[in-house]
Amino acid sequence: MRVEVHPAEHWADVVAAELAATLGRPGGARVCLATGSTPAPVYRRVPAALAALGLDAGASIVVLLDEYVGLPPDDPARCDAQLRSQLIERLHPPPAFVPIPVDDLPPAAAAAALDRVAAAGLDLAIVGLGLNGHVGMNEPGSAPSAPTRVVEIAPITSRVAVERYGATAAPTAGVTLGIDRLLGAAELWLVVSGAAKADMLRAVLEQPPDSARPASFLRRHPRLRVIADEPAARLLADRSPTRA
Ligand code: PGA
Repeated sequence: MRVEVHPAEHWADVVAAELAATLGRPGGARVCLATGSTPAPVYRRVPAALAALGLDAGASIVVLLDEYVGLPPDDPARCDAQLRSQLIERLHPPPAFVPIPVDDLPPAAAAAALDRVAAAGLDLAIVGLGLNGHVGMNEPGSAPSAPTRVVEIAPITSRVAVERYGATAAPTAGVTLGIDRLLGAAELWLVVSGAAKADMLRAVLEQPPDSARPASFLRRHPRLRVIADEPAARLLADRSPTRA
């Protein structure tokens, strides 16, 4: 595991530059992306970051990490809508986008479809850290072997969907990529920003891995990168800018 800490004002630029380099790789990359308030400022910076590198994302494939079940397609909290508006529709040419087909298939079949895409290989997965230690919609109680599946959403996650993302109804279920597939990605980045995540980030990184904090299982990945801003990292025992 490598922990990288950046000043809050540079954090999104740093992550955007690295994501742009991956999306612009010759031949493209297969990248699984989270949504939410953490990566939103990163995605907004990717078009400029690609331009600065003289690259485009047209050969890449972006796979959605998770999705609510039961929200209408035009609900503002939908993860596919967020990723389309924050990233995909702002890239020219756009990468291929693979949402989770929750409108067209029963939830279990939508999960199976997502799993097939991930099983074909992921060059990179970028995930955020839930306030309750979840990763994707792998809520507390999830095992390190948790597969891609239909999940019940924790009450706090459902509240966040309504209060922060404007969901028109409180979602109670979702489809998420499993922790098993995240651990199988060639590269895995846990991106964390803001003081509100500091307690959970410390627990995830410094306490024994535990299903109470599913994100702690990401430490099993041989090349996990934790990319945090200074407010999120402020409680870590070692806050030097980069440590292995
Ligand atoms: P946030 O969510 O980035 O909106 O804080 C992270 C998560 O719940 O995974």
